[in-house]
Amino acid sequence: MADILTEDPKAVSRRNFIKGVIAGGAAVSSAGYLFRASSVHAQGSGSAERLITLNVNGQQRRVDAMKQETLAWTLRYKLGLTGTKLGCDRAECGACTVLIDDVPHYSCSVLTHTVRGKKVQTIEGLAAADGTLHPVQQGVIDEQGFQCAFCMSGFVMATVGYLKTNPNPTREQLAHGISGNLCRCQDYDKILTAMMKGAENLRKVQHA
Ligand code: FES
Ligand code: FES
Repeated sequence: MADILTEDPKAVSRRNFIKGVIAGGAAVSSAGYLFRASSVHAQGSGSAERLITLNVNGQQRRVDAMKQETLAWTLRYKLGLTGTKLGCDRAECGACTVLIDDVPHYSCSVLTHTVRGKKVQTIEGLAAADGTLHPVQQGVIDEQGFQCAFCMSGFVMATVGYLKTNPNPTREQLAHGISGNLCRCQDYDKILTAMMKGAENLRKVQHA
């Protein structure tokens, strides 16, 4: 992402930017978010740490996690998986959504120690080994969904999780299924169109 962000903006097409973002999450931050991250880290310092093994994106990852540490914090700041975003950090916005045993969860509100023995999947774990994007990620490209894309990882993960239970939803059903995710840019109609396209892409792949 860094090279994309430092290039001449005029030389970077929106399509390429979105493609880079959805493969690994947007490099977007805000002063409020950074302040909150610092204070959480400060609270944790001095606490006893424990070395645990997590199954993240199919890999066994050893990590020191404090007892009060959230999964979002571990993913972003211990494992470098910054595609998972922290928006509200209090179970309201869905930006931090990841799959735990195939079910969407707000990772800001899950303690890391509770996911031992479970399967965690983040936006970085969606694409195939050869780089082929997940059909829902491809739906974002197809429909040019999202504005700033801060909320995108969460919406994509929530949609991937929802489609495991209802692979052929109506627009209304999908809207309800991912209603736990908020978009600060209020781009809901376009997001839903992109997610519906992702659902269609997924059905094509599954029935190919
Ligand atoms: S950051 Fe987790 S729900 Fe908002
Ligand atoms: S596109 Fe900006 S927060 Fe959703």
